Amino acid sequence: DPDYRLVPHRNFNLINGIHSPDEVDQIQNWEIQESDIFVVTYPKSGTIWMQQILTMIEAKGDVSRTTEHPNAHRVPWIELIGSEKLFNAAPSPRLRVTHLQYKFMPLAIKQKMGKVIYVARNPKDVLVSYYHFHKYATMLETPKDFNDFFEKFMDGKVYGNCWFEHIKTWYAKRDYMNFLYITYEEMIQDLHCMVERICSFLGKDLTEEQIDSVVEHSSFKSMKQNPQANYKTVPDSLLDQKKGTFMRKGTIGDWKNHFTVAQSEKFDRVFQEKMRDLPLNFVWD
Ligand code: PPS
Repeated sequence: DPDYRLVPHRNFNLINGIHSPDEVDQIQNWEIQESDIFVVTYPKSGTIWMQQILTMIEAKGDVSRTTEHPNAHRVPWIELIGSEKLFNAAPSPRLRVTHLQYKFMPLAIKQKMGKVIYVARNPKDVLVSYYHFHKYATMLETPKDFNDFFEKFMDGKVYGNCWFEHIKTWYAKRDYMNFLYITYEEMIQDLHCMVERICSFLGKDLTEEQIDSVVEHSSFKSMKQNPQANYKTVPDSLLDQKKGTFMRKGTIGDWKNHFTVAQSEKFDRVFQEKMRDLPLNFVWD
């Protein structure tokens, strides 16, 4: 669809039709309050998962908010057209989500206003999840095959641009912000513990029962059954759900079912080179 395409803006690809370069450039001036929370992810790293967890925490374990309103209304995207108006009109606490790079963010968060939660996922699984997403996301170009997408991802020719740059630039600035770094794999391994960590970061004092409810309603199984948690309600013009599904597998290590040995070795070489100075470890299987 020629109406939807990647348009580079200040070295970052925006999606024509849903993003506006002028509006994205205004984000840095947004007025931030202490209670505002920004979830930051590279695509396919646990975004809707964190949207669900944060709403459940905010609602103190009451599931109704997450079944009555779609995730994108509960935790809206800051890069979408019209987001500033929504942001200014919304009562605190405002929950927001973005795939943008650090340089576009409100200046105030770089002076410790509000809070930032960065969710990272092992990038081989990110690549696989993103490949499948491209097959049914109407606004993104359908890959010819897996290798075609592998090369695009490695070249950063996708929304989010280069995975390595995204994580490196965000992580390098962590001390300027109220910043929590958390991984998809930690959430898979011990969601209860991670929900407690998020609550403590946000200064939320939930009872054990409330925490249990957050965990229960944020599981893969619950979210797959909740159309307001998983984009099931969006029109075909955005996601053609006959061709794929958001809640696809939700596992660690699916890359092994997709990567050839040569692709894996190539990826490992780039990873070692680009991540040399970054003290971050990932769980790969
Ligand atoms: S997006 O388009 O950037 O907003 O996508 P994002 O939500 O970041 O990533 C989608 C992947 O996250 C998986 N997912 C989950 N895994 C485990 N548990 C829960 N609760 C959960 N919710 C979403 C989803 O299945 C996608 O990963 P893959 O590997 O494709 O299954």
